[in-house]
Amino acid sequence: MTAAAPHHTAEKLCRLLSDMTGQTVSEGRRWRIESSLRPLLRARGLTSLDALIAAIERDPGGPLAAQAVDAMLNHESSFFRDIGVFRTIEQSVLPRIRDAAREKLLRIWCAGASTGQEAYSLAMMLKRMGPMWDDWRISIHATDVSPAAIETARRGRYTQMDMQRGLPINELLRWFTAVGDDWQLSDEIREMVSFSADNLLDPRRVSGLFDLILCRNVLFYFPEETKRAACARLAAFARPGTYLVLGAGEMLTGLGSRFVSCRDLNCIYIADRRSDPTRPDRYASETLAS
Ligand SMILES: C[S@@+](CC[C@H](N)C(=O)[O-])C[C@H]1O[C@@H](n2cnc3c(N)ncnc32)[C@H](O)[C@@H]1O
Repeated sequence: MTAAAPHHTAEKLCRLLSDMTGQTVSEGRRWRIESSLRPLLRARGLTSLDALIAAIERDPGGPLAAQAVDAMLNHESSFFRDIGVFRTIEQSVLPRIRDAAREKLLRIWCAGASTGQEAYSLAMMLKRMGPMWDDWRISIHATDVSPAAIETARRGRYTQMDMQRGLPINELLRWFTAVGDDWQLSDEIREMVSFSADNLLDPRRVSGLFDLILCRNVLFYFPEETKRAACARLAAFARPGTYLVLGAGEMLTGLGSRFVSCRDLNCIYIADRRSDPTRPDRYASETLAS
């Protein structure tokens, strides 16, 4: 196998990735395509990327296309990733949501949740916060375009390496059990999170309005117009006052989003109270009522 995929081959694979997820691969990162797909080629006994493309073209909607896309995605995640943001959520965002709530219901959506660490970190945090959420109904829904990542997330089993990346020892001791070389998350935390394999650009199994949305380290890989579309999708699940958390360094500047930056909180945005032009009826009434 050559070190870098020929241009037309890389082009086809990038188009497949873009069609299925909205993500683009910059020229400078195309060399990664070959290495990310190598394990799949080996597993399928395919000798080249062209052979992979031919096999996908014979069965365009089949599992191989999804597996190839999955291999090209970056699923990097860890428990309590960017701990400062989790502190902000715990100390500022959640108390503000609680104070402003009209009923004891907290709905959180993790969009682009990868293998579950982000959603489970929130669940562990809510448990740690203790009695203040005791009589609340809490729902955390986590989605990712990758069915394989969602399957891993649902299972809640993590490697030693996953555990060493950001998980405080007290959370490990409280919520995980060693199983061989891996660690199994307790049912109590797993049951706080529901999952669905959903594309952020067309989230069919997501419904209702959320108080808090996390979409961290996902928009980064979208071109400008896809970022705009993704923000519009997120906004459709937000009520005025919904908080949005982005990854460190991700910004909404210039995207015309209805989320505005919380000046005092890093990485945190809030849905403003102007009516949403795409859903005028809903927001007009909510704005009046709030
Ligand atoms: C780098 S990971 C970030 C995971 C987690 N949010 C975090 O910050 O730790 C990005 C995730 O976004 C997912 N993703 C990419 N495009 C997506 C899309 N169109 N819809 C939903 N998820 C997507 C990828 O599959 C990947 O698991």
